[in-house]
Amino acid sequence: MNHQKVLVLDFGGQYNQLIARRVREQGVFCDLKPSEMTLEEIKEYNPIGIIFTGGPNSVYDEGSPKIDKRVFELGIPVLGLCYGCQLIAYTLGGAVSHVTTSEYGKTETFYEKSPLLKDVPEKAVCWMSHTDAVTVLPEGFKKLAHTENCPYAAFGDESRKIYGIQFHPEVNHTQYGSQMLKNFLYEVCGAAGDWTMSNFVANQITALRNKIGDKKVLCAMSGGVDSAVAAVLIHKAVGDNLTCVFVDHGLLRKYEADEVMSVFKDGLKMNLIKADAGEIFIKKLKGKKDPEKKRKIIGKQFIRTFEKEAKKIGKVDFLVQGTIYPDVIESGKDKSAVIKSHHNVGGLPSVVNFEEIIEPLRDLFKDEVRKVGFELGLPKSVVMRQPFPGPGLAIRIMGAVTKEKLETLRDSDYILREEIAKAGLDEKIWQYFTVITNSKTVGVQGDFRTYENVIAIRAVTSVDAMTADWARIPDGVLEVISSRITNEVKHANRIVYDITSKPPATIEWE
Ligand code: XMP
Repeated sequence: MNHQKVLVLDFGGQYNQLIARRVREQGVFCDLKPSEMTLEEIKEYNPIGIIFTGGPNSVYDEGSPKIDKRVFELGIPVLGLCYGCQLIAYTLGGAVSHVTTSEYGKTETFYEKSPLLKDVPEKAVCWMSHTDAVTVLPEGFKKLAHTENCPYAAFGDESRKIYGIQFHPEVNHTQYGSQMLKNFLYEVCGAAGDWTMSNFVANQITALRNKIGDKKVLCAMSGGVDSAVAAVLIHKAVGDNLTCVFVDHGLLRKYEADEVMSVFKDGLKMNLIKADAGEIFIKKLKGKKDPEKKRKIIGKQFIRTFEKEAKKIGKVDFLVQGTIYPDVIESGKDKSAVIKSHHNVGGLPSVVNFEEIIEPLRDLFKDEVRKVGFELGLPKSVVMRQPFPGPGLAIRIMGAVTKEKLETLRDSDYILREEIAKAGLDEKIWQYFTVITNSKTVGVQGDFRTYENVIAIRAVTSVDAMTADWARIPDGVLEVISSRITNEVKHANRIVYDITSKPPATIEWE
C-alpha cells in the first residue's frame, strides 16, 4: 500500500510497541524493526522519519546496541527517546554520564521554543525513567528542555532535524507527550497523515479483490475479534467466494454461538457453516482432569472438526489467518520474554488442501483491528469482545468437564457479564469471568442444607495479558453479583473473589 512510513528502531525498551502505536494514532504508518537494521536496509525502507526507542543498556556498556553514524547523514529526521537520545549524543560526539540522582516518575520540566515543542507550554510534567543522562551536547545541538537533575531533558539540531528526548513522550503521564510526537511527525518530518482506518479498509478491499479474483477462500471463524474482522474484510472484497467455518465446540459462553450466527450469517449474509460438535467434544473430554490434556484434546478435535467441514467444500485456494502485527514484530527485545505461552486452538489443519495463507490484518495493532471492525459496521459486542481462550469454558471448570458444570458456569458467567456492563466497567476490565472450582462447600438455601460448588470470580486489568492485576470491582457490584449467582444459578452456593495478580498466578485458572 502506498503510504508514508516512519521507522521505529527498537533498542529493547519496555515501551517499544507503545511508541509505534502512538505514531499510528497520529495517522502515520510505522514499523517497529530491530535496531540492527543496516544502513542499506534503512535506505531501502525509505522512511520519512526515524525514531530510536529506549532500552535497558548504557551506551558505554560493552555490547550495547549502537547505530551507524551515517544514518544521521541521510537527511531523514531522527528522534531518539531515552536510550535513543543518549545514543544520539554518544554517536555524534557528546557525552553521557551516570547521574548521581536518577529520576523516576513524574518530573517537572522546563521547555524552550522549538518545532518539536510547538504548543507545549514553558513548564509541564514529564515521565522520567533513567539513571544515565546526556551531560555534553554534540556540536550543533542546543538544549530544548531541562529538569532539576537533567540538564538536557530534550535537545536538538534543528538544521539537521535530529532531536533527543530523555523522558517518555509516549506514556500518558507525560503532559503534551502526544503533542511532541505529533510535532515530530508533522512539523519536523512533514507527514501527510495518510494512515487512517478508512483508507486501510478501502485499500485492503481492492488489494484482496485483485489477489483473490474468482478463487476460493476458507476461514476458520471463532467469533473472536481478529478472525471476525479478517473474515468481514475478505467478505467485502470477494463475497460468497469466502466460506467461513465456525466450530461450536460446546464450550462457548451463553448465547455466544447464536450471536455469531446472527451477526455474520443473518446480518452480514456471509457464507457461514456452523459445525455443531459439542457432543463429541464432551465425549472426548469425559473424565479428563489434567488441564494440559484437556487443552490437547480440544486442540486436536477442533482441527478434526474443521477438516471434516473443509473437506465437504473441496479444494480452496486461500486459508485466512487472523494474525496481527504484535505476532509478527521481530523485536529487539529478548524474544523469549514476549512469546505467549498459549497458542490458539487450531493451528494449521494438515489435510485441508489450500495453496496460500492470507493474513489481511498482519500490519495492524489490536486497537487498529477494532477500528477496522467499526469501519466495517460490526457491532460493539463483537468488536470490543474481551479475550476468550481457544479451549473455552473447559479451562474454567477445574477438573473434569460435565454438561451440568458447563450450564452452571455459563449461567454464572452471564450474570457476571451483565452486572459488569451495568456498572459501566466492561471497557475498563480486560477480562472477567467465573470459574467452577473443584471445591464444594456446605450452605443453607431456604430451609435446606446444600452441598454445592464454590464459584470464583476472576476479573483482571491488563494491557497485553502478559502481566495483570486483579480488578478492584466496587463492593456494591460484587454484592449484587454474589447474590444473583447464588439465587439464580443452580449448583452454586458460595462465591469467592480471586485477588491474585499475574505473576504469580495466570489469568485463567488452568
Ligand atoms: P494466562 O491464563 O496464561 O492467559 O494468563 C493469558 C491470556 O491468554 C488467554 N489464554 C488462551 N488463549 N488458548 C488461547 O487462545 C489457550 O489455551 C489460552 N489459555 C489462556 C487468556 O484468556 C488470557 O487472555
